[in-house]
Amino acid sequence: MSVILSHIVATSLNNVIGFKGKLPWHIPKDLKYFFTKTKNKVLIMGRKSFDSLESKPLPNRLNLVLTHRKSFLEKSFLDKNLLFFSHFKKALKYAQQPEILEKYGNEIFIAGGGEIYKQTLLQMDRLYVTRIYKEYKGDAFYPEIPEKYFKLTKQEDHKGFSFLVYEKN
Ligand SMILES: NC(=O)c1ccc[n+]([C@@H]2O[C@H](COP(=O)([O-])OP(=O)(O)OC[C@H]3O[C@@H](n4cnc5c(N)ncnc54)[C@H](OP(=O)(O)O)[C@@H]3O)[C@@H](O)[C@H]2O)c1
Repeated sequence: MSVILSHIVATSLNNVIGFKGKLPWHIPKDLKYFFTKTKNKVLIMGRKSFDSLESKPLPNRLNLVLTHRKSFLEKSFLDKNLLFFSHFKKALKYAQQPEILEKYGNEIFIAGGGEIYKQTLLQMDRLYVTRIYKEYKGDAFYPEIPEKYFKLTKQEDHKGFSFLVYEKN
């Protein structure tokens, strides 16, 4: 089964994705979009994004959290769909096992935050980007999307934001 690696992110005009560990906005339609797209899928995220979920795995998803912290790495909670990995490659390898692909499907979502998006952007096949047409103050950012590697293939406009989908060229 071929695997699709996808970012899913909401970002402002000035590429802000977070401030003080939280989303700087509340857009219910975007939250719904995120939850619909990622339902019953594998989610890979950085430890700080996991903290922003109050360190609780999102239900109905397999949550793979990246961290260098030994205290986390020694734990795993398969019953809660929560596993910790010290490298993106290791998390990906886990997610690509045939039984995991069969259970969660062949699209693997990278759900932030800034550090993880930056490290993995060029490995992605697809980007689901909610572009919010406003500038925000922030301390976590989404990288510039290089036109050389990705093209915009879908756009759904809403008041103040658009759901954009980019595919690898
Ligand atoms: N708008 C959006 O769509 C969206 C989505 C997700 C998150 N966010 C926001 O983004 C912010 C968090 O982003 P962030 O950039 O500060 O942090 P992050 O990317 O969520 O997490 C960074 C942490 O991940 C771990 N890490 C990073 N690279 C790693 C690697 N290669 N291997 C293993 N572990 C690795 C480290 O954890 P340790 O320190 O434990 O070693 C690092 O401190 C929050 O404000 C959150 O609300 C926004």
